[in-house]
Amino acid sequence: MNHQKSIISFIGILMLILLSACSGQPIDKKYVIKFSHVVAANTPKGLAAELFKQKVEQRLNDKVIVEVYPSSQLMSDDDSLEALAFNEIQMTAVSLSKYNRFTKKLQVFDLPFLFNDMDAVERFLKHPEGLKLLAVLEDKGFMGLGFWPNGLKQLSANTPLLEPADAKGVKFRIQESDVLEAQFLAVNANPQKLAFGEVYQALQVGTIDGQDNTWSNIYSEKFYEVQDYIIESNHNLLAYIWMINTEFWQGLPQDIQGELTVIIDEVNAAVMIMAIEINASDREKVVQDDPDKIISLSSEQLEQWRSAMKPVWDEFKDEIGEEVIEAALAANNP
Ligand code: LMR
Repeated sequence: MNHQKSIISFIGILMLILLSACSGQPIDKKYVIKFSHVVAANTPKGLAAELFKQKVEQRLNDKVIVEVYPSSQLMSDDDSLEALAFNEIQMTAVSLSKYNRFTKKLQVFDLPFLFNDMDAVERFLKHPEGLKLLAVLEDKGFMGLGFWPNGLKQLSANTPLLEPADAKGVKFRIQESDVLEAQFLAVNANPQKLAFGEVYQALQVGTIDGQDNTWSNIYSEKFYEVQDYIIESNHNLLAYIWMINTEFWQGLPQDIQGELTVIIDEVNAAVMIMAIEINASDREKVVQDDPDKIISLSSEQLEQWRSAMKPVWDEFKDEIGEEVIEAALAANNP
C-alpha cells in the first residue's frame, strides 16, 4: 500500500515537472548569492554584507538566498576574484589595492597621503571622475555595485616609527599593489605581499615586523596584540568595490533586479556612516588596551613621511591619469 502511495506521489511530482517545463515556468527558482570576504563580521565590510543579507531576507526571501562567508572562510581575496569571474561566487568586496593585475586605474586610491580625511574620500567617490572608476572592471565580467569605504590606514610595527628613517629594513606586510610596494621601498623598508588571512600569524612568528591597516582591521584581527606600536599616520585609504558577476546579474528576472537595486542603494548609503563609527570605536578599544602603544606624530614628522613617500606619485601618474589625480586632490578642498 505504502509502496503504491509513493509511486503515485512520484508520478505526481514528475507530472508537475513536465507541466512546468512545457509552460516554460520554473518551479519557484531560487537564486543563491554567495558573498565571500576576508574580514571579521563586526567590521564595516562584514556588517554591510550582513545588512544586505538581512534586507534580502526580509524582502526577497522566497526568491533570493544570500550566503555570506566572512574571515577568509571560503577563500582568500585573490581566489575570490577568480571565483567571481567564473561565477563560483556571485559577490565580493575586495580592497581597491588588490585589482592591480586587472587594471591600473584604481591605483589612484593607493597614492600615499592623497586624501586628508574621509570627507574628502566621500566627495571624490561621488565626483564623476571617481564614479567612472566603478565601471573599470566591466570588461572583466565584474559589475561594480558601489564603493564601500573603510577608513584611513595606520602603521603598526615593533619599533617606534617616528620618522621615515625609522622604517629602514622593516619588513612590512602589504596588499597586492605596486603602489604600496613602491611607497614602502621609498622609505627603504622591505615590503612583502601577503594574503590578509596570514598576517596575524606572520606578525606573531616574526616573519614580518609590521603592517598597515584601518583601526577596524587592527582591532578585529587582534594585530595590536602582536605589535608593540601603532603609529597614527593616516597615510593611505582602505576602501572596497562591491562587485557582482555581470552575467549572474543579467540573468536575474527584472522584478528581482529592481528590488535588489533598491536594497543595494540602501546598503551603499549606510556603509560610510558605519565605517566612521566602527573605526572610531575600535580605535578607542585599542587605546584602552594599552595607551602606550599609540604614537601620535607631530605635524613635522607627518610632513617628513609625506615628502618621503610622495615621489611615488610621479612613478604612477601616467598609468592612473592626471585628471583622476587632480579630481581626487580637489576633493580635499571643497
Ligand atoms: C587587507 O588585505 O589588509 C585588507 O584588504 C583587508 C580588508 O578586506 O579589509
